Amino acid sequence: MSHAIVSLRQVSKGFNDGDKYHQVLTGINLSINPADTVALTGPSGSGKSTLLNIIGGFEFIKQGQLLLNGSDTSNWQDKQWSQFRRQHLGVVFQQFNLLTPLNVRDNIAFSLRLNQQNWSPWCDYLLSQLGLDEVKNRNVETLSGGQQQRVAIARALAHKPSLLLADEPTGNLDEKAGQQVMSLLTQLAQESQTSILMVTHSNECAAFMQRRWHLEQGLIHE
Ligand SMILES: Nc1ncnc2c1ncn2[C@@H]1O[C@H](COP(=O)(O)OP(=O)(O)O)[C@@H](O)[C@H]1O
Ligand SMILES: [Mg+2]
Repeated sequence: MSHAIVSLRQVSKGFNDGDKYHQVLTGINLSINPADTVALTGPSGSGKSTLLNIIGGFEFIKQGQLLLNGSDTSNWQDKQWSQFRRQHLGVVFQQFNLLTPLNVRDNIAFSLRLNQQNWSPWCDYLLSQLGLDEVKNRNVETLSGGQQQRVAIARALAHKPSLLLADEPTGNLDEKAGQQVMSLLTQLAQESQTSILMVTHSNECAAFMQRRWHLEQGLIHE
């Protein structure tokens, strides 16, 4: 039997806000299956980033269940979380979060080493498909925003993760660069058989994904 990559069952999450408790997610049920690509929309503050952070193990839940590759994460320790991230997870954020003293190639190689993996022909392929061959020895801070986000995509997909979490990946790009990043991201994730959960505010970007979820008042509407 093949498992969903991600399943949430009745997941609720809130935060202490001064002396009040602010409920953000109220009983979320969802699954992401292999090859799914999902756009997540919703008003600002509705909990989109919180949901991605829960799935990536950057925030924890006390109510409900999170299963990753069929395994219940409620008793996972740091070791299981880091192993899941190493093997199965890629992330791309609105801010590119690159290592600015390093060049393009070393940004990707450094991240691969953290994942205990080596440079592979797939990495060269990513660089060429993302139009980064010409600039691979350049320091990342000398690149345009669109180029920097393409480096972040190469880094996120270099180990062929089963899941890519992307939080407003085109939020800092102009429309043309944004469309280009989206189309490359979709194509390359498909080639590496990577599922995508992507937060976006743009209908044009959401249209690249097969499914669309809207988060509002703590719940997801498909
Ligand atoms: N670590 C945190 N501590 C306290 N409040 C938080 C934290 N993370 C998110 N929130 C609050 O949760 C709500 C949802 O935030 P977020 O998930 O970032 O929304 P979105 O990404 O949809 O804009 C907001 O009201 C935010 O202030
Ligand atoms: Mg957000």
